[in-house]
Amino acid sequence: MPTTFSLRTARDDAPNALFVALDRARAAGERLLDLTTSNPTTAGIPHDASAILAAIADPRSLVYAPEPLGLPSAREAAAATFASHGATVDPSRVALTASTSEAYAVLFKVLCDPGDEILVPAPSYPLLGFLAEFESVALRTYPLVHAGRWHVDLEALRAAISPRTKAIVVVSPNNPTGSYLGEEELERMLDLDLPIVSDEVFATYPMSERVPEGRVATVAGATRGLVFALSGLSKLAALPQMKLGWIGVSGAEDLAARAMRRLELVLDAYLSVGTPVQHALPAILSSRAAAEDAIRARARENLRALRAIMKEAPSASVLDVEGGWYAIVRVPDMKTDERWALDLAVRDHVAVQPGYFFDMDRGAHLVVSLLTPEPVFAEGAARLAARVREDA
Ligand SMILES: Cc1ncc(COP(=O)(O)O)c(C=O)c1O
Repeated sequence: MPTTFSLRTARDDAPNALFVALDRARAAGERLLDLTTSNPTTAGIPHDASAILAAIADPRSLVYAPEPLGLPSAREAAAATFASHGATVDPSRVALTASTSEAYAVLFKVLCDPGDEILVPAPSYPLLGFLAEFESVALRTYPLVHAGRWHVDLEALRAAISPRTKAIVVVSPNNPTGSYLGEEELERMLDLDLPIVSDEVFATYPMSERVPEGRVATVAGATRGLVFALSGLSKLAALPQMKLGWIGVSGAEDLAARAMRRLELVLDAYLSVGTPVQHALPAILSSRAAAEDAIRARARENLRALRAIMKEAPSASVLDVEGGWYAIVRVPDMKTDERWALDLAVRDHVAVQPGYFFDMDRGAHLVVSLLTPEPVFAEGAARLAARVREDA
């Protein structure tokens, strides 16, 4: 019998034209203005290095004492992060994972059988497609609509539900739309009696002083249905390499208790969270302000600069951003967003992400990362505005 591989891991290996163009520019020694920066550890964001390094050198980490849901002290620290959004989650209702991505995988195993369906927003985070496919789960999308402000098309969401639908994913604030889930939207979703998986990794980065009026800071603390609030060190403390995420489980008492037992069963098979990071979690969380404040300040400054610079190209517009690290620029649709991104890479040496990477299928949109160091961002935005003026 010839060797075969799973269909789930079969991918078209043809390299993406944009990545090829960017690689070529780099190989030619061009100075590339990268407006896709998403790694907070290489973007000049300050960390409280001594506190972090002291925390991971804890001698207790020399002992292995496996706990499927995580060490009690770490679960307590993770539970406390929900309190900063005004929600109460008992530490017994927190499960630790190695990342938010792993949290999705674990939840898909807990909620779905192969062939079941999960509803995800469009546009949204591109990794969701891979994470679902690896669990043999099918993704169905529901639209987020931009009408001055982003909102969930609840009619379309209801229409997308089938007998095989097992959960609704929300990303709040969403990547790349920067929109928080609305309070009313959450209530209508809870009415649908489906578990809600809420990815809140960017929740701590609102663009204004607080989460906008009528928007949900966290789904944690809900008292009906079954809701899972996902977060982790990757964005909250800007430390993705620490590999620690968590799931806060809320909702009807009985459902939440049953969900915890299932989570424990799956997590016990992997025991994937390292001990040092669990012991270090309380200290890492207490020392996160340096990075968190710097990211907030940078994202706000870059968004302000982007709006000012794009005024020079009136045929493009910057969409409203409520939170997170990304902004969307709507560009004239006489070219596809892939073509705009390719032209910017080849002619202007600016890297941006085309909207289609995020399932934006109407009009032409470019996604830029507000985590980019300010001087690079401003120069890249100026070249983007110039390209729009020239081509449109
Ligand atoms: C919306 C969203 N969720 C989750 C993640 C990944 O988080 P983690 O590093 O915890 O897997 C990202 C990373 O960019 C993201 O944008």
